Amino acid sequence: MSGKMEYVTCTAPVNIAVIKYWGKRDEKLVLPMNSSVSVTLSQDQLRAKTTIAACKTFSNDKIWLNGREESFDNPRIQNLLHEVKCRARIQNGSDLDQLLSWKIHICSENNFPTAAGLASSAAGYACLAFTLAQLYKVTGDVSDIARRGSGSACRSVYGGFVVWNKGENIDGTDSIARQILPHTHWSDLHILILVVSDQKKHTGSSEGMQKTVQTSELYKQRVKCVPERTDDIIDAIKNKDFDKFAEITMKDSNQLHAVCLDTYPPISYLTDTSRDIMTLVHRYNTFKAQNKVAYTFDAGPNACLYLNEADVPGVISIIEYFFPPTSQSQHFITGLPINTRAIEKEF
Ligand code: DP6
Repeated sequence: MSGKMEYVTCTAPVNIAVIKYWGKRDEKLVLPMNSSVSVTLSQDQLRAKTTIAACKTFSNDKIWLNGREESFDNPRIQNLLHEVKCRARIQNGSDLDQLLSWKIHICSENNFPTAAGLASSAAGYACLAFTLAQLYKVTGDVSDIARRGSGSACRSVYGGFVVWNKGENIDGTDSIARQILPHTHWSDLHILILVVSDQKKHTGSSEGMQKTVQTSELYKQRVKCVPERTDDIIDAIKNKDFDKFAEITMKDSNQLHAVCLDTYPPISYLTDTSRDIMTLVHRYNTFKAQNKVAYTFDAGPNACLYLNEADVPGVISIIEYFFPPTSQSQHFITGLPINTRAIEKEF
């Protein structure tokens, strides 16, 4: 320790779920109703970057997100910080007492639109958990710490194909993420992200899922069928069975948006453009006589398409033909390989 200031910078990737997390059984500990599965993206184009400085002379804890100062009293940040500090004390005894008593300044930025349904909170909170863990010399799995910031963040701690087990324990100790397989297992799997809108979503995920759990009858059915779907998609990933992987991915996305519509009052995240993209994907797959592309939508109108590398140029040209950018729906398309680097510390 330098004696006056300590700082560390880390980056974290975005992940896109193929079996969606939607609904908590414990709001405070962020314990999900069902397990979920995701693919972690490359950090080359989409990532969160966080620098944390701890200094003897700082008088207050502060946080800036994308250049704007935000409240440090945010319960998710407090929850996460509390957990990292507890773990640091257990692992390091009194060695870190001085560092742990100093105030911190956190500066975090995403290189993509925040709150547009592009899993920005996943990368952001994974990065925050990991950077704090680095600062306070906490070792071991940090996915359950990231989970306390935002559920989906626990999956961004690992690269490749990731499962977040819902866990059974009431204290959440077994509600953690783990890698199913590294990205090298299926390295020609690519993702295209079609930004239909970069506006902030009208109903945030946390609020939306809470209302779904409280009011949707259909949701009870979803919770029953997700475990089998989870096992099936893990098998499809292990066997690199794109046809099956695509079918399950699309069905799960459709079911998520069906339970949103069944929520009262209903929540609708998809727009006409989103639905047109879905139709185009199904027509393309029918024309090819097998699933070549899969769509999935989070809590927003933007589409994530999974496809094999060989299909990227053809699909991009079709998308560009049918969805030329307009002033209303300015979109970008990017051919992203899945994760090549996991969460990491910058030196
Ligand atoms: C639709 O992780 O943002 O993207 O835990 O309340 O912060 P909180 O929710 P969040 O929800 C993500 C929901 C989703 C599906 C998914 O990523 O699995």
